[in-house]
Amino acid sequence: MPLAVYIHWPFCRSKCPYCDFNSHVREQIDEQRWTRALLADLKHQAELAPDREVVSIFFGGGTPSLMPPDTVAALIERVRALWPISPDLEVTLEANPNSAEAERFAKFAAAGVNRLSLGVQALDSAALQFLGRRHDRAEALAAIALARDTFPRYSFDLIYARPGQSVAAWEDELEQALSFAGTHLSLYQLTIEPGTAFGNRAERGEILSADEDSAVALYEFTQRRLASAGMPAYEISNHARPGAECRHNLAYWRYEDYLGIGPGAHGRVTRAGAKLATQQRRAPEAWLAAIEESGSAFEEMTPISRDASIEEMLMMGLRLAEGIPRPRLEALAERNIEDRFRPALSRLVEGGFVTLTDERLVATAAGRQRLNAVLGALLA
Ligand SMILES: C[S@@+](CC[C@H](N)C(=O)[O-])C[C@H]1O[C@@H](n2cnc3c(N)ncnc32)[C@H](O)[C@@H]1O
Ligand code: SF4
Repeated sequence: MPLAVYIHWPFCRSKCPYCDFNSHVREQIDEQRWTRALLADLKHQAELAPDREVVSIFFGGGTPSLMPPDTVAALIERVRALWPISPDLEVTLEANPNSAEAERFAKFAAAGVNRLSLGVQALDSAALQFLGRRHDRAEALAAIALARDTFPRYSFDLIYARPGQSVAAWEDELEQALSFAGTHLSLYQLTIEPGTAFGNRAERGEILSADEDSAVALYEFTQRRLASAGMPAYEISNHARPGAECRHNLAYWRYEDYLGIGPGAHGRVTRAGAKLATQQRRAPEAWLAAIEESGSAFEEMTPISRDASIEEMLMMGLRLAEGIPRPRLEALAERNIEDRFRPALSRLVEGGFVTLTDERLVATAAGRQRLNAVLGALLA
């Protein structure tokens, strides 16, 4: 089974009001200590999954474009030294479009990054301000152009279903996005997460996202427009030309193995036929101290039961347009799918929310839009 390696950089210049990722603002970061610690974490976790072929490295965050390019280079080099490497290794780095970070793009490419994922979020300066971003439209466009000229592959993220956003306004923004896009786009609906600045404001009664009917209309429009542009959704929020899907994220959704390096990162590794779940300490300083003290910052390393594995495979795989290979699910469940998910499955098939063939269990577009309800019914 292939292996993907996720590396988390937990720092940002400022905290965006909608974001509940493990990201923190710090005045000072001891870059040498962080580099040493991430390298040590890689070495330690290599023991969990030796001799596996690495197909992807993903620098996520936080804001990995704030990492020193030498650190990125050292980490890629260490992965190459620790494992056999796929000939078409994908190395993605998430970047913010601020000009200071864009100055480093060439160095990231020289370090071995071959795919850039840019957090553009909006192409409208007022919307960027609402989202608390530190870049404006001009910086976003300049960063996209530079990404296109610097990396073999690039993608960018947009957040839609903002409050009061009409389909006509989104249509206009999406047309612009398509004119700047390469072969991959991530289009997320704004979600209001508890504990974020937006979460707190929403609790006080402010309207900070689109109402449900508008969100459905915006989502359906997005699906149609991107499909007609040759970039259908291969996952709920991710669109690509066939063959240009993000290999790394596919590893999560296909329930393949991945290691999580850095604060808060989690992993799934198959050992002796069963999945092991790993979870690291979240707070950057606590993580760093644990690694420096003992070489490991695992908070948890637990075997996953068969039922929990089935649940995870469904939660991940039904996000994908390709769905889940039936033989894989049946091998895990050790029984026929119809028996395992009776009677919910036949109701979901009849309702047009999932399809089941000899090869695959797939959530339809309608099913993917209501995935929580579909999962709830299957797993009840
Ligand atoms: C780890 S984050 C971002 C990486 C990078 N620091 C940035 O901000 O561009 C990955 C993506 O998740 C999306 N995202 C984060 N929080 C979100 C939310 N509450 N609603 C919708 N999309 C969100 C954003 O599009 C973001 O680019
Ligand atoms: S959205 Fe990106 S830049 Fe903003 S706080 Fe989250 S990780 Fe940091």
